[in-house]
Amino acid sequence: MLNWPASVLAKTLRGLSRKLLFTVPNGCACFCDTMCLDILRQRKKVLLLLLLMASGSIFYYLYTLKLERERDANVSSTTSRLEREISDLQAVFESEVVPQLGALGRPARGNWTTEELEAIAKSQRETGYNAWLSKRISPERTLYDMRHRSCKKLKYPLEKLPSVSVVITYHNEEASVLLRTLSSLRSRTPVLLLREIILVDDGSSSVDEKLNDFLQIKFLNMVKHHRISTQVGLIQARVTGANLALADVLVFLDSHVEVTHGWLEPLLAPILTSNRTCTTPIIDTIDYETFAYRRGKPSRGFFNWQLNYIQLPLLKEEAVAMPAPHKNPIMNGGLFAIGRQWFAELGGYDKGLKIWGGEQLELSLKLWLCGGQILEVPCSRIGHLYRDGNFQIRYTDKDKNSEKKLIQRNYRRVAEVWLDELKDKVFANMPHLTVIPAGNLAEQRDLRKRLHCKPFKWFLDHLAADFLNLYPIIDPAEYATGVLQSVSSPKLCLDRTESRPGRPKLSSCSGDRVFPRSELHWTLTNHRELQSGLLCLEVRNQGMEVYIYHCHRQKGNQFWSFDPKTRQVISGQMQDSRLCLEVQPEIHAVTTGDCDPKNSKQQWKFGYQNNERLHHFWDNVKTH
Ligand SMILES: *[C@@H]1O[C@H](CO)[C@@H](O)[C@H](O)[C@H]1NC(C)=O
Ligand SMILES: *[C@@H]1O[C@H](CO)[C@@H](O)[C@H](O)[C@H]1NC(C)=O
Ligand SMILES: *[C@@H]1O[C@H](CO)[C@@H](O)[C@H](O)[C@H]1NC(C)=O
Repeated sequence: MLNWPASVLAKTLRGLSRKLLFTVPNGCACFCDTMCLDILRQRKKVLLLLLLMASGSIFYYLYTLKLERERDANVSSTTSRLEREISDLQAVFESEVVPQLGALGRPARGNWTTEELEAIAKSQRETGYNAWLSKRISPERTLYDMRHRSCKKLKYPLEKLPSVSVVITYHNEEASVLLRTLSSLRSRTPVLLLREIILVDDGSSSVDEKLNDFLQIKFLNMVKHHRISTQVGLIQARVTGANLALADVLVFLDSHVEVTHGWLEPLLAPILTSNRTCTTPIIDTIDYETFAYRRGKPSRGFFNWQLNYIQLPLLKEEAVAMPAPHKNPIMNGGLFAIGRQWFAELGGYDKGLKIWGGEQLELSLKLWLCGGQILEVPCSRIGHLYRDGNFQIRYTDKDKNSEKKLIQRNYRRVAEVWLDELKDKVFANMPHLTVIPAGNLAEQRDLRKRLHCKPFKWFLDHLAADFLNLYPIIDPAEYATGVLQSVSSPKLCLDRTESRPGRPKLSSCSGDRVFPRSELHWTLTNHRELQSGLLCLEVRNQGMEVYIYHCHRQKGNQFWSFDPKTRQVISGQMQDSRLCLEVQPEIHAVTTGDCDPKNSKQQWKFGYQNNERLHHFWDNVKTH
C-alpha cells in the first residue's frame, strides 16, 4: 500500500474529486444557491481545492499507517529495547564491578595503582567511606551466613507472617551503596513477605534521573521512589515514608546496609505473637575501608546521663538463652520493625523533633512506657556501613552550630517529656540544654496521658538494674581528681588535647591544681578510669601505646589505678598485665613501662586524692 506508484495515486485522486464534484449539485441543491452556483461556475478552482484536501487526507492516512507499522515494529522489539536500556543503565552503574571482589563479605583488597589509591583517599575524604571501592563490589555480592547454628534450623509459617513495607530514607547516598542495600533486600527476603520498598529521597542535592530509571527497571514495582524536594531531615522523612506504606508491618532501614539470609522472618515472629512489640536485629559492621562484613555482638542498648547511646552486655540469663530474643531497652536507631498500627497509635516520631538526634530515644521510651516492648532478635542480622569515625557528617547545609542546636533541642524535648524528675540529672550533666527552648510540648504530654504511659521510674526499675550500677543517679566520691602532675618534671601535667591523633600530651601545669582548666582536669573515677571530659586514657598495642578515647566503661584497656604509696599510675586490672605511666619530658609525651617503684619518671601527683576511697580501691575487683 505504502509503495503505490504515483500514477495510480493520481488517478484515484482524480476519480475521487470528480465523483465528489458531481454529487454536490444534487446533494445540496435545496439549500445551496449562490455559493454553490459560484463554486460550479469556478469548476477549475474547486477541482484544485478538492484535490488538495483529498491528497492531504490521504497522506495523513498513509502517515498513520506508517506509524502503526513502526509501533508494531517497536512492540516486537520491546524486549530487545528494554534489554538495551538495561545494559545501557547497567553500564552507568555497574560497569566497574570486579567479579568476586568482596564476595562472601570478605575484605575487598586489590593491588591498586598510585592513581587508584589517590582516588580511594579522595572518596573517603568526601563520603567517610571507600566509595571508589564500593562501585567495584557487586551489588549482588554474597555474604557468609554467620547466624548462630540453631537459627538456621528455625522454621517460620510464611503464610501467617504479616507482609512488610520497608522504609528507607536517604540524603546524597552513593548509588552503588544504595543499590547494594536494595539488591540484598530483594535477594534475601521472601517475595511473599516483601510488599514494597519505600525509598524516600530527602532532598538530595541533585536528582539522578538515570538512577530512577535503573531502579524502575531493576526492581520493577518493588521500589517506590518518593522525592522530597527540600530536605526535611531523617525523622520527618521517615514519617513521610511510613505514611505512604501499605503493609501491616513497617521495617525502617538505613540506605547503607546489607541484609543477610533469613533476616526478616525472626523479626516478624515476635510481632505476630504480640502486636505492640518492636524488634531490632543484631547490627553487624561493614568496614568503611574494605567493605568486609564483620560480626556484631548482641547487646542491650541504653543511654547515659549525657543522653548518648551506649551498649550494655546481655544479662546472664539472656546470654544463656541465646539466640532467643531479649529485651532491648533503647534501640540503636536506624533499623527496626514495628506494626504499622502500633507506630501510628504512638504518633510515630514526635513531630517537634528536627533533622536527627534523640529520635530513637524518644521512640524507645514511648514504646516501653506506653505498653509496648523492644526485643533484639539475635537470629536476624543486618550489616551497617559505619563511616570513618573522624568523618564529620553533615545532614544539612545549615552551619555546624545551628545543626548542633537543633540536635540539642531534640534532646531537651525528650528529657522534658519522658524523664520526669530525672531530667534534672541530665541537665546537671548538660546545663547548656536548659537554655535551649524546647518548643511546644503539649501534644507529646497529651499523648503520654492519653496512652496512660507509665512514669520513667518504671523503666529504670524494670530494665536498668545493671545500668544504675554503672551509671548511678548519685555519684559516689571519686578516688582522685585535679591535675595529674609529674613528680620528676613537676612543671609538666597530663593534657588531654591531642598532639597527634588520639595521643595525650604534656603541657605546663597552670592555675589551680584541684580545679584546673578542663584539658588538664583528670579524674580517677568510680569505674576506675582516668577520665577527662567525655574522654578516657587508654592503652593499645599490648599496653605499649597511650591514647585518649571515648570512655567505654568496659574496663579492659581503660582500667587504671593509683598507688598512693609509690605514686604510680598503673594500667591494667590483672596483676600480670600491669604497666606504669611514664613521663617523657623531652618529647612532651607519655608512654608505659614495666613498673619500677624507684623510677621517678613513673611517679605522679593528683591535685586531690581521696585516701579513704583509695584505701578501698581493690575491694571486689578481680586481679587474677
Ligand atoms: C519507535 O521507536 C523509536 C525508537 O525507539 C522511536 O523514536 C519512535 O518514536 C517509536 N515510534 C512509535 C510509533 O512508538
Ligand atoms: C597482589 O600482588 C601480589 C604479588 O604480586 C600477589 O601475590 C597478590 O595475590 C595480589 N593481590 C591481589 C588481590 O591481586
Ligand atoms: C492488637 O491486636 C488486638 C487483637 O486483635 C487488636 O484489638 C489491637 O487493635 C491490635 N493493636 C495494635 C496496636 O495493632
